[in-house]
Amino acid sequence: MGYEFIEFEKEDKGVGILSINRPQALNALNWDTLKDLGNFIENDFPNENLRVLIITGSGGKAFVAGADIAQMSEMNDAQFKEYTNYAHKIYNLIEHSPCPSIAAVNGYALGGGCELALACDLRIASEKAKLGFPEVKLGIFPGWGGSQRATRIMGNGKAKELIYTGEMISAEEALRIGLVERVVPHDVIMEEAMKLAGLIADRAPLAVSAAKKAINKGSEMDLDKALGLEKDLIFSCFDTDDRIEGMKAFLEKRDPEFEGK
Ligand code: COA
Repeated sequence: MGYEFIEFEKEDKGVGILSINRPQALNALNWDTLKDLGNFIENDFPNENLRVLIITGSGGKAFVAGADIAQMSEMNDAQFKEYTNYAHKIYNLIEHSPCPSIAAVNGYALGGGCELALACDLRIASEKAKLGFPEVKLGIFPGWGGSQRATRIMGNGKAKELIYTGEMISAEEALRIGLVERVVPHDVIMEEAMKLAGLIADRAPLAVSAAKKAINKGSEMDLDKALGLEKDLIFSCFDTDDRIEGMKAFLEKRDPEFEGK
């Protein structure tokens, strides 16, 4: 793989851990780091055959402290567009991947870092994490998907409060407003993320992927169309070996063995 700014390890049950690894800058996504993340997501992620991808940050202090402000300050309009378009493309690939993803938010998740967490399916935060969108302090606003994904996740009011003020919030507050799903002690965040990933990895992978698609795509449609999509997806799930195995295992009072077929 040969990446400088990310690390990837595959654990048991097909759970992958991708760490953004630029701790000297609190894992801020400069071009090289974003490219490493993007190359992994575009080229390796689809071939790793993962059941769950966990994304986290190296160094113990930050998940990702955002886009790289020093680099951005030197960019012209065309370069900023290229940087932003690329971030959009990669975050969309994470969001729409059939593989579910968990952001293990182990510290600062700011700006583009919070937006990366929002592109994941689930967010688990350390009690030391700080989250927010400081962009308006820099003369921009969350433009790597944040103004759209934040509103869909926590509602317009809370998203506007966070985005307009640029203030950071604690993990507990993030939990209260639905920006994260769980808060855990700092020292055990990876253990807890692995437990959550392990639970998902034990389930029928095609069913989890279908549920992801139904929820992600369906929430963008009117209810009639969304219910139609749900039916198409449940019919395709019913037609899988895993469905036969899951129901058979229940009736035989044993754990199912899912193969993703
Ligand atoms: N872009 C570029 N460099 C960043 C960065 C970012 N988004 N966030 C942190 N860094 C760098 C700092 O410049 C510093 O580098 P230096 O040691 O060469 O000076 C290093 O990371 C450590 O950060 P520092 O600010 O010294 O740590 P701190 O604990 O005092 O503060 C933060 C932590 C997260 C509050 C602070 O770094 C911060 O506000 N970062 C910017 C967050 C932001 O606005 N993100 C959105 C960008 S769109």
